[in-house]
Amino acid sequence: MNNSRRKFINRFSSILGGSILFNDPSYFEFVKEIDLNTERINTKKLSKFYMIKEDGIYLNHASIGTIPQPVHNAHVKYLKICESNPSLYVWGAPWKKITDLARTLSAELLKCNKDDIAITHNTTEGFNILAHGLVLKETDEVLFSSLNHAGASMPWKGLSKNKNFNVRSFNFPMDLVPEITEDKIVDLYSSQIRKNTKVLIFPHIDNIVGLQHPIEKIAINAKKLGVEYVFVDGAQSLGMIPLDLSNTKVDAYSMSPHKWLQAPKGTGLFFISETMRKKIPPMWYKSSLSMKDNTAKKYEDYSTRAWPAVVALADAIRFQNKIGLKKKNNYYNYLWSETKKIVDTSPDLIWHSPRDKGLSSMIMTIEAKKKSSSIVSKTLNEKHDIYLRPFENPLNALRISPNMFTDIMDIKKTIKIIDS
Ligand SMILES: Cc1ncc(COP(=O)(O)O)c(C=O)c1O
Repeated sequence: MNNSRRKFINRFSSILGGSILFNDPSYFEFVKEIDLNTERINTKKLSKFYMIKEDGIYLNHASIGTIPQPVHNAHVKYLKICESNPSLYVWGAPWKKITDLARTLSAELLKCNKDDIAITHNTTEGFNILAHGLVLKETDEVLFSSLNHAGASMPWKGLSKNKNFNVRSFNFPMDLVPEITEDKIVDLYSSQIRKNTKVLIFPHIDNIVGLQHPIEKIAINAKKLGVEYVFVDGAQSLGMIPLDLSNTKVDAYSMSPHKWLQAPKGTGLFFISETMRKKIPPMWYKSSLSMKDNTAKKYEDYSTRAWPAVVALADAIRFQNKIGLKKKNNYYNYLWSETKKIVDTSPDLIWHSPRDKGLSSMIMTIEAKKKSSSIVSKTLNEKHDIYLRPFENPLNALRISPNMFTDIMDIKKTIKIIDS
């Protein structure tokens, strides 16, 4: 590379940093093409800014999201910039500053203090930090339900023998989900709490039926019953629904921006309260950071890490902000109502997700009576290029998780094939 190009890249990246997104031609096109002033998203236009195969239908955003082209382009540029002077970008100051910006943008999105946010790699990592760090007695119990994802449960199960504490999982009654109410959810968790239950863990939105838990009510009740720590799995909520962790009674909340926030794979966010930070040491040490810093940054003392992805996380947030949560939610509400309507008209389909809009989400789970979900899913993949997640346990069901660029016609087509 010649000198002037190198200088340009260095200057460009250190001055503009995370705003490379705003200089990408595909971002200009996105802003020009998508009428951001309308109430409803134009899915046909928006879908052009994603890289999902044109003739395929991807309804598995709950497993892993897809990056918009402008954010992807920015990420690629950061990767190139990094290779232009690896030691500067991996160890130097420019991207540390931009990472601080990613933290600020994340805190704005979550309505919390930026000192409470660590930029991790995924939801599972947050739960590992907690399970490794929390001091528990032999008689103490960690409680969760069968709705918990392995990423929130396994760290506790895995460490319970070594660290000598108890773990208990109870079966969440899946048959109650469609007609469930907020009070019933709170009662279900409360009824499982025992004298020695010290930690309660639950998902904000679970990955099986997409039940949106009333986190504050569950937390307040649990604490009244003697639970000391409430930790919430936010893997499916970040980027899908508005979040407000400002006054939450939750002690830690772990998230995966690579799902609904459409950030690069391997980026995580971890909210941990100041009180909790005094009790939980970092999981790894590279510098003396943890000795002088009691912000959540102490949990990021990784040594070498993939900084371009962290820098692009800021751009993923900017992209989502440009579309706006209100517009996204309007469209999600529409997709949910239409999907439920289609499913309800068929005598051979069962809707397993909550029927109450307030408790529902963009995770919609249905069953085709008398059909194996794995076989239906295989047919959808192989014959129709349609991707969703089948479950065999605890339900024989198919999970539809679309996104803001999914056309309702694609969901209709999918359901028609499932029902045929
Ligand atoms: C509810 C829930 N929690 C945790 C995870 C784990 O996420 P990650 O692999 O990003 O740690 C997932 C992944 O699908 C999930 O759906």
